[in-house]
Amino acid sequence: MNLQSFLESSTGEVAAWVSNLAARAVATVISLNPKAEELDREMEELRAISNDVSEEIRTGELENKRPTHQTQTWLSLVGKIEARVDKFRLSLQQRGASSEGSSLRSSYQLACEAAECLKEVQRLKTQKSDLLPLLIQAPPPAVVELPSSSLYDNVGAEETLSEIRSLVEGDEAPVIGIYGMGGIGKTTLLKAINNEFLHRGSSQFDLVIWVTVSKELDVHKVQEEIAVRLGYSRPGKGQGKTLTEHPTDRVNTLRRALSQRKFLLLLDDLWEKLDLGAVGVPFSSSSDRNGSKIVFTTRLVEVCNRMDAEWKVQVPLLDQARSWELFCQKLGRGEDQWDPSVRSQAEDVCKKCGGLPITLITVGRAMAGATTLGEWKDALKDLEGIPPGLGDMEKKVLESLKFSFDRLEDKSARECLLYFRPLPRG
Ligand SMILES: Nc1ncnc2c1ncn2[C@@H]1O[C@H](COP(=O)(O)OP(=O)(O)OP(=O)(O)O)[C@@H](O)[C@H]1O
Ligand SMILES: [Mg+2]
Repeated sequence: MNLQSFLESSTGEVAAWVSNLAARAVATVISLNPKAEELDREMEELRAISNDVSEEIRTGELENKRPTHQTQTWLSLVGKIEARVDKFRLSLQQRGASSEGSSLRSSYQLACEAAECLKEVQRLKTQKSDLLPLLIQAPPPAVVELPSSSLYDNVGAEETLSEIRSLVEGDEAPVIGIYGMGGIGKTTLLKAINNEFLHRGSSQFDLVIWVTVSKELDVHKVQEEIAVRLGYSRPGKGQGKTLTEHPTDRVNTLRRALSQRKFLLLLDDLWEKLDLGAVGVPFSSSSDRNGSKIVFTTRLVEVCNRMDAEWKVQVPLLDQARSWELFCQKLGRGEDQWDPSVRSQAEDVCKKCGGLPITLITVGRAMAGATTLGEWKDALKDLEGIPPGLGDMEKKVLESLKFSFDRLEDKSARECLLYFRPLPRG
């Protein structure tokens, strides 16, 4: 068959094909409005489903659960189709507004877009039922933030903090002891170390564990605190797995879990040696340690020795300038708000606090309302009556507490202070 006879014989078929195509295009254009309405309905339903999923994620976060990767992808696809449908809606509105825009061609394009969007919305609606479970238990976070005053408020702590920071980052000291008298700021520094890892991300350690040990050493409690950071639930709380009660199994379980991680163990307020082996902390050899570190605080330098701390950091008392800075901060008074004679009396009161932050804070707060020279003279006199027979630290703290107690005008506040810390009532 030559070309001419082929064309002649095909003309009928081509004409039918073209008219078929035109009919389909017209049908598509006619379907634009009903399709757009259906799309609106279906999109509204999908939005409601996705809002429920987001709500479930927020509730799950309270139980340390996180969305599965599948759920995350689904949500992001819902976001994309939402944006696409919004864009379609806008084009539809613009087409209505402009006469040129309502050409057959643009109507046809919009109708095709409506059909495609609808298909995707319906697919996502169906896919939702394949997502179960929506959430899975999240691994424990590498660091848990501890409530702490900002370092900005901590006068003079930055130097000690940077010394501890470089020891934690360096290789030479697996065990670091921070020591100093009560109220000098050891816990504050340790909290700052913990929270720093939160802000700069812990690439050095897989897990930062905080344990408050206290005077009555309770190995069982220390084990439980470590276990919680490893993802176990506290007995009687949460639905997760709890650490076994069997003493040997407890040690072995913790040993196994900790030896798989590079951890930073922060032990606050040690009063005696903590036997790490008895707790289940693998730390007796360098292969055991594997880059993990322990930093602890104690009032007693002997504890640093008994814990075999390679490095001991003594937290210093504040010098006069810093004491004055902290004191004024607590008084709420700026440099230019002093009468010179009152100021010199107040400086003497500040010196009496001996550079100990807790004393400066307590006395500073108690004197916040004092304005007259007489009030400051009385305060100085009161601070001179230190009870004999106490250690330096106890004297300072007790004195400042008694001092502020006497200045509390509110009777119920006095009772409250007496309840929490027995003070001499003279
Ligand atoms: N350098 C500082 N600047 C300002 N406030 C400080 C400073 N150091 C400590 N503080 C404040 O003093 C109080 C006592 O500090 P912290 O609890 O850290 O003392 P500590 O050495 O851990 O005492 P303890 O031995 O009793 O546990 C806290 O309220 C803390 O915010
Ligand atoms: Mg402390």
